[in-house]
Amino acid sequence: MTTADSSLEARLEELLQVERFDPPEEFTAAALIGDMSVHERAGQDPVGWWAEQAQALHWSSPWETVLDDSNPPFYKWFTGGRLNASHNCLDRHVEAGIGDRVAFHWRGEEGEERDITYAELHADVQRFANVLKDRGVQKGDVVGIYLPMIPEVVVAMLACARIGAPHNVVFGGFSAESVAERMEFSDAKLLVTVDGARRKGKTAPIKAAVDDCMRALPCIVVRHTGIDAPMAEKDAWLHELMETADTECPAEDLDSEHPLFVLYTSGSTAKPKGILHTTGGYLTQVAWTHRYVFDLKPDSDVWFCSADVGWITGHSYIVYGPLANGATSVMYEGAPDHPHRGIWWELCERYGATLFYTAPTAIRACMKWGVEHVEKHDLSKLRLLGTVGEPINPKAWLWYREVVGGGRCPVVDTWWQTETGAIMITTLAGAQHAKPGSAGTPLPGVDAAVLDEEGNEVGNGTQGLLALRRPWPGMLRTLFRDDDRFVETYFSKFNRETYFVGDASRRDDDDGYFWVIGRVDDVINVSGHRLSTAEIESAVVSHSQVAECAVIGQSDADTGQSIAAFVTLEGEEDDGSDELVEEIRDHVAARIGKFARPRRIIWAGDLPKTRSGKIMRRLLRDIAEGRELGDVTTLRDPDVMAKLEGKIAERQAEEA
Ligand code: WT7
Repeated sequence: MTTADSSLEARLEELLQVERFDPPEEFTAAALIGDMSVHERAGQDPVGWWAEQAQALHWSSPWETVLDDSNPPFYKWFTGGRLNASHNCLDRHVEAGIGDRVAFHWRGEEGEERDITYAELHADVQRFANVLKDRGVQKGDVVGIYLPMIPEVVVAMLACARIGAPHNVVFGGFSAESVAERMEFSDAKLLVTVDGARRKGKTAPIKAAVDDCMRALPCIVVRHTGIDAPMAEKDAWLHELMETADTECPAEDLDSEHPLFVLYTSGSTAKPKGILHTTGGYLTQVAWTHRYVFDLKPDSDVWFCSADVGWITGHSYIVYGPLANGATSVMYEGAPDHPHRGIWWELCERYGATLFYTAPTAIRACMKWGVEHVEKHDLSKLRLLGTVGEPINPKAWLWYREVVGGGRCPVVDTWWQTETGAIMITTLAGAQHAKPGSAGTPLPGVDAAVLDEEGNEVGNGTQGLLALRRPWPGMLRTLFRDDDRFVETYFSKFNRETYFVGDASRRDDDDGYFWVIGRVDDVINVSGHRLSTAEIESAVVSHSQVAECAVIGQSDADTGQSIAAFVTLEGEEDDGSDELVEEIRDHVAARIGKFARPRRIIWAGDLPKTRSGKIMRRLLRDIAEGRELGDVTTLRDPDVMAKLEGKIAERQAEEA
């Protein structure tokens, strides 16, 4: 350890004793929100307060009813109101005279730079919208998007929004098979994809992989890497279509509840859930939260969200929030450690980033890589930092604050979900103190509570189930073509008006701050990526040599959780070879995506089952984490656990 390292270590140890960080005075003085009056006002009339916030958007016709709660849980916001998301993100800014403002400073993996202004984005989106129309896409049709972090992904999304065609973006890390499944579930008419994608200096063929799984689906293909892309009659190159497309495409006037997008996320079964978001309410909340949680001053700030557009964070805080607010953003194509481990900080310096938003797992990776990669760059313009995706351990929170934020930037921990559409629990940095590890309080207009199994609020200090007791504008409206599963998953645990989050939580006595502890269902969180144990199990079991499998999430110091798969093989042998381990991992990569590959595969001659044959994952979690085993008396064969314990001990010895 160098002297610098050990003095940082000592400083972090010291700061670990600090329970709360008050807002810096200079920050509060200049902040959009500097006291708690907004929370108070919103608390008295939440619905009226949201209506006030919706005025920040451009509506072509005003709404008649702010909240229609006549048929819970099918809530509607701003009914009768009409608007267009693409118009709100582009046209109105150009009309207001800020067309020359940079919307994105884009940086390619190979170092290319492109500055895209609002006027340019506006022009591209109009032509792309005409391309979609020319290809037969109509209002209400679902359009699939499977693209890397290139400007075209934003153009494609806004083009869909412009003509009222809900987009279904699939994260580039998913395999083509996963994309095919999601296209089928959402009945997509067309897929916008790319010839190839770059990852850490290598090129992966994307169009070719898509063709292997989606024979009939017409594709619009972006030429990006130049790698060979098989093109059939049904397919077309985007650049060719753009050349001949009309330049003008007025934004479709849409109902506030018109579907804006569907985004698939993992639930507790193997079938992903199509989260459906609509227009007016979603846009109201993403715009408000982006502006006020991050204290955005659109004419002077530079925003950098390190997420991928393929996740909800990218939808809400790379595309819709920042663009609705007329912000300037940094967008990076590559991985955080490519071409070097300081690339994010290089980009912050280069483009003068003032606000930075990332995930705890990324912060922990940066901690491991070492402060030198951060300190090489001038980050003095940064003034606020945010995190999202999983609970943040206090040490990482403090490292972020000290090393990236130079000890002067407030850090906001934002809790929300794909389903909530936008941030729900956090602190407003100019008005509220921060506590490392705690997300803070519900935002103005949001009612969160910690309940017991019966739906009664538990006392502060007691762990319970996080719930949302009042509808919010950005909420999901349903699961795509599956109203029953929507009600069953989110509004049946307590009652039809209380949203069941699926997270465990506890509140502090003194200030009511929420600590979000983790999932209570079979959803696991690896590096901020949400996965379903059932989905991985089904991928593992589809390997011809596998008879049975149980997947669990194991706590992991770097990635939050990691995937462990207990596998029973076909035939007599309990144990498989090392080659088979790799084969199964590759098999999962092909079915779902590389990020879903199990870290560990543990051969299990048998799995712990109840007499009725249900696998007891709780026991597997207990042995994997080295905990005392809970009640094993309900097991059909209690000896199974002793055998597995032996295996785990062996494995741990090998890993050590
Ligand atoms: C789940 C939602 C929201 C965009 C990224 C993830 C966990 C999210 C936090 C946080 C503790 C968090 C929860 C939640 N989570 N943010 N600040 N503190 N946990 O979206 O994939 O829909 O996952 O991520 O468990 O339920 P998602």
